[in-house]
Amino acid sequence: MPTTKSLPEDFLWGFATAAFQIEGSTDVGGRGKSIWDDFSRLPERTLDGKNGDVATDSYKRWKEDIALLRLYGVRAYRFSISWPRIIPLGGRNDPTNPEGIQFYSDFIDELIYNGIVPFVTLYHWDLPQGLHDRYGGWLKKDEITKDFVRYSRVCFGSFGNRVKYWLTINEPWCISVLGYGRGVFAPGRSSNRTRSPEGDSSTEPWIVAHNVILSHALAVQLYRDEFQPTQGGIIGITLNGDMTIPYDESPENIDAAQHALDFAIASLSQDPIYLGYYPEYLKQVLGNHLPEFTAEEWNIVKGSSDFYGMNTYTTNLCKAGGNDIFQGFVDYTFTRPDGTQLGTQAQCAWLQTYPTGFRQLLNYLYKRYQIPIYVTENGFAVMNETNMPIDRAINDTNRVEYFRGNCEVMLAAITEDGVDIRSYFAWSLLDNFEWADGYSTRFGVTYVDYETQKRYPKGSGKFVSKVR
Ligand code: NOJ
Repeated sequence: MPTTKSLPEDFLWGFATAAFQIEGSTDVGGRGKSIWDDFSRLPERTLDGKNGDVATDSYKRWKEDIALLRLYGVRAYRFSISWPRIIPLGGRNDPTNPEGIQFYSDFIDELIYNGIVPFVTLYHWDLPQGLHDRYGGWLKKDEITKDFVRYSRVCFGSFGNRVKYWLTINEPWCISVLGYGRGVFAPGRSSNRTRSPEGDSSTEPWIVAHNVILSHALAVQLYRDEFQPTQGGIIGITLNGDMTIPYDESPENIDAAQHALDFAIASLSQDPIYLGYYPEYLKQVLGNHLPEFTAEEWNIVKGSSDFYGMNTYTTNLCKAGGNDIFQGFVDYTFTRPDGTQLGTQAQCAWLQTYPTGFRQLLNYLYKRYQIPIYVTENGFAVMNETNMPIDRAINDTNRVEYFRGNCEVMLAAITEDGVDIRSYFAWSLLDNFEWADGYSTRFGVTYVDYETQKRYPKGSGKFVSKVR
């Protein structure tokens, strides 16, 4: 089992959350609306029909959350700032909200006072509704890039004297594909779904991805030019990607796994940001639907992350011949040719345990991009946990096994494979609003009783806090 002795001295251990998933209090403290507010209130947008109005009530219970972090003894905490709390209408000429700024300022002070390093995400999907209404939000390059840079400036200026780890944007692939392709995340645009007939899912996801990357890169440019020299922090982006391996040894499935890696992992943001180009297979599949960066933009995009921010959960077995463009026309399964499962099934269909894949992915990314890796999310949702009595739910053996397996291989990746890994944030500190799943899927290392908002540490929380 990994211990502090085997991990690098300054390794950052902790848990992660995101504002919209935990804060609630959506109309308190001068906060503006986000695109998730109304979206999650629409019928059938979430599995259990519930929304983010209360969530884990963390806007009010933030001191309790920090006490919990202390109890677990974490070294760092990854959380996100809500853009509509800082600039309620979102835009570069719109007023800031002193109460929102004060809230995060106090929060950061309290973390530091408790010896916990703040690791801050600027954007975890809660775009100010005002920007979506005004000009279509992420779809409008000239507007959104400027508005995101201004929002970033306010955050660097207000918190950068204390925050030394910044993530610009969480998971561009999900923002683009789930929000504008599949239409299952806010703002729910997709021409392929009858329940969200707005949008053009053949072009919009790629336009959005493009604008997200550019906004990220411009915020990094600002930080490096005006803040990093005096504040001395580091900044990057966090990207989702799961390992893909061939279903069997057939040449077409070996190719399919490589295509899946090129499409889903090395694709929309990774290669552009770390290598300065798009992978061939992505260009082949998307053709002229993929917007090109100008030479000047490539200069800003390439190298625009001080590290690789890694959100990863699982491994997929890949078969050729899929018909889903968002998976690069590769089929995913967890069932091996002999009928056995890759690992233990989670509550969400897309997740099974498979530590070997985690180690492979750490190696793959490090070899490909040669930059330090910060694991910014990794976690497991136990099947049916939401229907269990609390005393059973907190005994979350499957989640403990998930963390045990992944922590072991991560240590091996560091000590045996020489991969430079600097952090591990388990997702998530608390059960919380799991986007389209509502509250029906629980990822927390702490059980939240949504009736009382009482928090109960699970076995996994205790386990992870011992690993550090
Ligand atoms: C990634 C996202 O960043 C986070 O918000 C989400 O809850 C987890 N994955 C689990 O699905």
